[in-house]
Order: sequence, then structure tokens, then C-alpha cells
Amino acid sequence: MTVSNSVDPVPTPATRPAGPGPRAYPGPPLRAVPGLLRKLWADRLALLSDAAAEYGDVVRFDMGPKTIYFFNHPDHAKHVLTDNPANYRKGMGLHEARRTLGDGLLTSEGETWRRQRQVISPAFRRERVASFAGVVADAGASLTGRLDAHVGAGTVDLAREMTALTMDVLGRMLLDADLSQLDMLGPAFEVAQSQAMWEMLTLGAVPLWLPLPRNFRFRAARRDLEDAVRTLLAARRPAASGKGSDLISLLAAASEGEADAQMRWRGLRDQLITMLLAGHETTASTLSWTWYLVSGQPAVEAALRQEATEVLGDRMPVIDDLARLPYTTMVIQEAMRLYPPVWGLTRKAVSADEIDGYAIPAGADVMICTYTLHRHPGFWPDPDEFRPERFAPSAPPPAHRYAYIPFGAGPRVCVGSHLGMMEAVLVTAMMARGFRFELQGPARRETEPNLSLRMRGGLPVKIVRA
Ligand code: HEM
Repeated sequence: MTVSNSVDPVPTPATRPAGPGPRAYPGPPLRAVPGLLRKLWADRLALLSDAAAEYGDVVRFDMGPKTIYFFNHPDHAKHVLTDNPANYRKGMGLHEARRTLGDGLLTSEGETWRRQRQVISPAFRRERVASFAGVVADAGASLTGRLDAHVGAGTVDLAREMTALTMDVLGRMLLDADLSQLDMLGPAFEVAQSQAMWEMLTLGAVPLWLPLPRNFRFRAARRDLEDAVRTLLAARRPAASGKGSDLISLLAAASEGEADAQMRWRGLRDQLITMLLAGHETTASTLSWTWYLVSGQPAVEAALRQEATEVLGDRMPVIDDLARLPYTTMVIQEAMRLYPPVWGLTRKAVSADEIDGYAIPAGADVMICTYTLHRHPGFWPDPDEFRPERFAPSAPPPAHRYAYIPFGAGPRVCVGSHLGMMEAVLVTAMMARGFRFELQGPARRETEPNLSLRMRGGLPVKIVRA
């Protein structure tokens, strides 16, 4: 069924009445602060969704030590990400993650970021990424082998399997290495992320030098990550002429300008840790939410399987299959609409600005939330419904280009989007042709918005051969 995307007209900034001077921000009153802080910890997405429903596209949260400026109209996202990106540095969450990611591509700024992006992005262009289809297929085959071994054998956490898959792809791609040997990698990323979230949620109110157990754990995790990178680089086959080594050379080249060898090493370390983190959680989140949504919908599951069987038969996928799997692509796109892996695009204003008549002071914490934007009732009919047909090639495009931005937008748009999409589509097809997944536990899974959008409690399933 094709669904029309036509919706009631939403007032655009241009049609809103403009009064004299800056507009007054809607938002919860000061007395609501304790409740807001509780909700920030307990359910960040509900906090934002409820505020958008109550106050509209612009909300100011006065939260004691911090004020958050939440903008939820696609025009606002366009302004921050694309029209005036020079005025917005990376904000909450990523700012804190910088203690782990250093000056890697995700968190660096200014001239350093520009130079890195110029050097690294050619490696992630569509045509270069195409050459990694074989790597994705190999990792997909290892995954389906593991899944096959679990058929009829109790409950498996599919979210965990998706994480293992995406790590496997990155290990093969970047380093020609088997990352499953490095069992400290997952827990170390876990501690580093949880620390970044904790720092974000405590709104910077707890000093990092305090001798708290979590501060010690964080430092140990950071050391583990550094050791892992050192081990991986040392074990890399010397001068291997495979594509993986090209990729590492490019990451290394991003800090070639540094005269000091220690700085060059730090540069490579930061890029590698960044790619491992940014590249595995996001794609794993996409795959987990996709299977959660699909497993509740037999018709979608059957259509996926039919496409996968017709296109792939029982051979390994190749890059040209991507264009032959339109339904699988639609399913992934719709899953990323409902559960965008990067749910918050946070920014800090460098200088004062104005969005839609609202004054943004210098230093303001600005929040664009893809989760609420992708469910904006003004741009998506029945926004909470899972309907892959919205993305059918014959369906009208989204009502606003910025109503759907799972990979972000503007100069800081995801560098790995082609890789992430290829991986998600090819692996979903490989899984769909072989298996069905019966969800275990509660039918409705809760979100856990970490740096990426996780599923609380993982995704326990029983695996059935298709
Ligand atoms: C479905 C999978 C993915 C999704 C949904 C996703 C989403 C995003 C988003 C929304 C951003 C922008 C963040 C911001 O503006 O603050 C971003 C940036 C980034 N992503 Fe991805 N990503 C995915 C896969 C990947 C992969 C596979 C890699 C690398 C192997 C990767 C590496 C990066 C990097 C390095 C950046 C920072 C780019 C820059 O600032 O220049 N991502 N990603």
C-alpha cells in the first residue's frame, strides 16, 4: 500500500507573524525544573516528544545550571546544520565524548576538522565503499553461520549479534583484523560512552577530578582502548596492499601535518577509535530496530524474504544487488525514521544568532532531535506507524527535505552513510532469506538513548529457519 505523505499545512517560519524584537520562548516554567531533570535521566525522548507536543517547534528548557534550546522544525534543522554551520560547534554528549574520541573526525572542529574531512572522505565515497561489499558479505556469512547454530536452541540477543557483525565489518575493512579477539574493546566503549552520557546528564555539575569509582573506570577504559589500538596497529600485516591498509593510511594521513611523532600517533589513535565507535553502534542500532519492527509484521517479513530470495538466491551478495533490493532499502529507511541511531544532533552556538525570530545567545546549547523531527505530525502522517511504503520509489518524497535526516546534514553529514546503508541492506537481505526471528520478552521495546539509540534490554529472539 502506498501512503501519501500529504499532511495538514504546518506554519513555516515565513508565515508566522513577526512581532517587534525577538520572540519569547515557549517552555516549561522554572518550577518544573526538578521534574524535568528527573525526566532527562529517565526518558530523554519522552521529555522532548512531550515538550514538542505541548509547546510546539521551539522550546526552551531552563534546567538550573543549563539552558537547552530545542528546535523541532525542519527549517530550524536546516538553519543550524546547513545554512549557518560555522556558528555551531558540536554540543552536549559529543563534547563529553571528546575525552575518548579526542580530535577524531566526529568531534574535531575548525581547520583541524576541515583538513581531516578532506583527507578521509574520499575513502567513504560511494564508489570506494562499493569495493567493500565483499567484506560486508563475508561478515554477513559469519553472522548467518552463528545464527544458524542457534536455530531451535534457546534465546539469542540479536542486538548483540548486530554489534558483533558491525565490529567485524570495521575490523576487516580498517585493519584486516578479527576484532572479536579483543574482548576488552566492547566493555571499554561501553564505559567510555556511559561516562559521556553521565557527564552530559549531570550537566557538567560534577567535577571530573573527583576520586569517584566511575572516573577511575573511565580512565582504565580509555587506557584499554589505547592499548587495543596499539595492538591492532602493531599486528597489521606490514605493507599489505589490501584495501584495508589504504584506509588506515588515509586515517594516518589526516594528521600528517603534525611535526611531532607523538601527535601523529595520537591523531591516528583518535581517528581509529572514532571510526570504530561511530561506525559500529549506529549500523548495529539500525539493524536491531529494523528486526524489532519487522518481526512484528508478518507481511513485511514475507516481502523482505521474497525479495531476498529472488535477488540473492543462495549466492553471496555483491554491490550491484543494492539497487535490486528496493524493498529492503525502504524497510531500513523507515526503521531509521522511527528509530534514528543518532537521535540528537547537539550544537553549541559560537556567536549570537537568530532562528525563526528567536534569539540564540552565544554559547547556547542547541538541540535538534532526529527522533522527534522524524515523527513530526506536520510532516509525517500517522508518524508512529511503521510503513516502509512511505519510502517507495513511487511515493512522494518527504514533505520537507529536512524532515528526514538520519545521517545529519550540511558539512558535518555522516561520512560513513554509504557504508552504513550498504551494510544494513545487504546484511538484512542475507538474514531475511535464511531466518525468521520470534521476539521474546515484552512486545514493546523501550528506547535507551545513549550516544546512539539503543534498545533497553537488548533484543532477545528465538531463531527459526525461514
Ligand atoms: C546507519 C548507520 C549510520 C548512521 C545513522 C549515522 C549517523 C550519523 C550522523 C547523524 C552523523 C552527524 C552527527 C552530527 O552532525 O553531530 C554522523 C557523523 C559521522 N559518522 Fe555516521 N552514521 C552511520 C554510520 C557510520 C559509519 C559506518 C561510519 C564509519 C565507519 C560513520 C562515521 C561517522 C563519522 C566519522 C562522522 C563525523 C563526520 C564529520 O563530522 O565530519 N558513520 N553519522
